[in-house]
Formats: sequence, structure tokens, C-alpha cells
Amino acid sequence: MTQLLITGGAGFIGSHTSLLLLEAGHSLVVIDNYDNSSPEALRRVLELAGPGAADRLVVVEGDIRSAADLDKAFAAAPSGQPIEAVIHFAGLKAVGESVGDPLRYWDVNLSGSRHLLKAMQAHGCRTLVFSSSCTVYGLPETMPIGEGAAIQPINPYGHSKAAVEQMLADLAASEAGWRIARLRYFNPVGAHPSGRIGEDPSGIPNNLLPFVSQVAVGRRTELQVFGGDWPTPDGSGIRDYIHVMDLAEGHRAALDALLAEPPQLLTLNLGSGQGHSVLEVVRAFESASGRTVPYAIVARRDGDAACTVADPHLAAERLGWRTRLSLAEMCRDSWCWQQANPHGYGG
Ligand code: NAD
Ligand code: WQD
Repeated sequence: MTQLLITGGAGFIGSHTSLLLLEAGHSLVVIDNYDNSSPEALRRVLELAGPGAADRLVVVEGDIRSAADLDKAFAAAPSGQPIEAVIHFAGLKAVGESVGDPLRYWDVNLSGSRHLLKAMQAHGCRTLVFSSSCTVYGLPETMPIGEGAAIQPINPYGHSKAAVEQMLADLAASEAGWRIARLRYFNPVGAHPSGRIGEDPSGIPNNLLPFVSQVAVGRRTELQVFGGDWPTPDGSGIRDYIHVMDLAEGHRAALDALLAEPPQLLTLNLGSGQGHSVLEVVRAFESASGRTVPYAIVARRDGDAACTVADPHLAAERLGWRTRLSLAEMCRDSWCWQQANPHGYGG
């Protein structure tokens, strides 16, 4: 059993990863300010994790930008043991919002991460898994994208993630003993197969899968497909979708590697290596749900790329991890969650 601190553990990826870590027998402190999540997510995580899990989870409602809240979290371990490693999900992730309010993104993503690292130093914890993003690559020239591709973000959200990556590299170079994984996720989708936890975006979803599932369930009338004239086989954009349960497994594998191996700075893509177009996603969702997803092809969205697909070989080599779940399973589980929770955790 390892004593872990999970920042942003009530969020989409954090809740699924927390469940997996509880099932693996670890003991968790979660810190979350519920800026983009609900306490209900963690209540359901405990319900899924089964008897005894409640003794291994402490939730601190707090902000990663507050040293006092972080001290409280570091002192809250249910085992009474010191925190051995941190998985850092907490942050803001909406590209459009980051263009309109960049200072908020620099504050939460960069300053929040800096506060966390200071707290880790103060509490003698030097093992960290960080949620980075394929967004740090911007509009890459070669496909699939390897970890050596240029870091050239094209929006404030991407710049804030790239800056945290750089801060982590500087820290690892300055002081021996840091074990850090920078995980660059591609397009996380899906939900726990029980349909009890899933992605619960507030307002109009920015991302494709939540939008498609809200159309299928009747909350929205039609999907807008951003561009039908991309240089792809069917003209719609191609992305590397990854099931959130595969992503959760990737965190567990990264954590195990960091704890077992000598101190290091690990930088890995977490993706499937397979691309799917928007129209393929629509068809897969229609098969999974048995519903029609009406759509209209409209103009391209600013800042989009035709195709973004990971080269996932390094993660396979370093972690022995690869994705297992297909697009059909991603759609099946998104639909199961959407149907059971048409308005998310709110009812
Ligand atoms: P999410 O919004 O569902 O989860 C983030 C969590 O952090 C939420 O529970 C939110 O309440 C919490 N949080 C935000 N600001 C906080 C603060 N100041 N203090 C404490 N808690 C705070 O997002 P997610 O999809 O689960 O993403 C998790 C991480 O993965 C983020 O860092 C995101 O940038 C990164 N990421 C996400 C995607 C994606 O498409 N979902 C892709 C690549 C990277
Ligand atoms: C996927 C495809 C759209 C919505 C974003 C962030 C990135 C990372 C992952 C956090 C594209 C098309 C979408 C719609 C559509 N997140 N689309 N109609 O843009 O690949 O990446 O999430 O780190 O930083 O930018 O994901 O889900 O928005 O779009 O046609 O209503 O679906 O054009 O081809 P994206 P997405």
C-alpha cells in the first residue's frame, strides 16, 4: 500500500484513476476545490471501490494555490504515514476559455503547480505524476507524434502545460532524488463501465464525445462537425481517442515505474496510436447507442489540426502499458454513463 496525494481527484480523469488506485489497495488523500467537479463523484468512487475503501480515502476540499490547504492535505493521510507520491490532475483545461482569460490559466495551472511543488519539497515528497497534454505539441508536422516532437503550443492552455513541464525539468535538474512522470494524454473519453462515474462537463461541451452523447440522449439537437474538407479520407478531423480506464491504468503503471526505478524524469505520450475521424466517431456512437446522431458539417474550428495521433511506443517500452479498449467500447461506456446520468452528477 502506498500513501498517495491526488490533486483534482474528483474530476473526470482523477475520479477514474482514484478508483483504480483504491482497488489496487493504495491509500489516498484527494484535494479538490470542486471548481469543475462534484463531491458526488468521489462518493460514487467509494461505492464502486467496495467495503473498506472508505478507510483509505480522505477528501480535503481545498485549493492547490493555498499553502495552508496543501499542508492540510499532506497531513491528512488516513494511514497516518507520510505522502509518498502525488498525482497532479488539478487544473483548468478549456482551450477557448484560456484564450479569453489567460491569467486564470497561468494562475491555476502554473502557479498552482508551483505551490504544489513547494509543498512537496517541504514535506519531503519527491515523486510526481503530472497531467500534461498532447496540446503541448501544437500543430505538429509529422504524424504520429513522438515525444521528441517540438513543443510549440498555440494557445494559453497549451503554454501553461508546457511551462509546467519546463518547471518540472528545471526542478529535476536542480536537486537529486526527484522521480517525475510528465504524461501527455491524447483525447480521453469514455467512462467507467458501470455508468456510475463519467465526464460531466458544465455548460455546452467543448469536446466531441460529450457533445455527441448529449445529442444522442436528446439534450442537444445536432452535432456541428467542424470541417468536412480536411485532408483526411472522409474530410473530417482525426484524433487519437483513449478510454479513460486505459488512461487510469497508464497512471498506475507510471507510478509503479517511478517508485521501482532510480530517480528520473519520464516523458510519455498516453494514446492508442490509432486515429478516428469525427464521422467514424458518430457512426460508432450510433451503433453503441442505437440512436441517430444528427449532424451538420460546418466551417473548421480555429486552431484545429487535421490529424493528431500519438506514437505510443515509448510508454509500451518503459511501462509495459498499452491501450486495450476500442472506440466501440469508449462509445458503449460513454453512452451507459450518459443514459444513466442524463444531467451528469446533478441528477
Ligand atoms: P476535470 O476538470 O474534470 O478535473 C480537474 C479537477 O481539478 C476538477 O475536479 C477541478 O475541480 C479540480 N481543480 C481545478 N482547479 C483546482 C484548484 N485550484 N485546486 C484544487 N482543485 C482544482 O479535468 P480532467 O479532464 O479530469 O483533466 C485532468 C487533468 O488532465 C487536467 O490537468 C487537464 O489539463 C489534463 N488533461 C485533460 C485532457 C482531457 O481532454 N480531459 C487531456 C489532456 C490533459
Ligand atoms: C475532437 C475532434 C474537432 C467538437 C482537446 C484539447 C486538447 C486536449 C484534448 C486537454 C476535432 C471535432 C469537436 C464538436 C467537432 N485536452 N469536433 N464538433 O480539439 O482534439 O483536443 O481535447 O489537454 O488540448 O484541445 O478535442 O474533442 O474538442 O475535438 O467536429 O462539437 O472533434 O474539430 O476534430 P481536441 P475535441
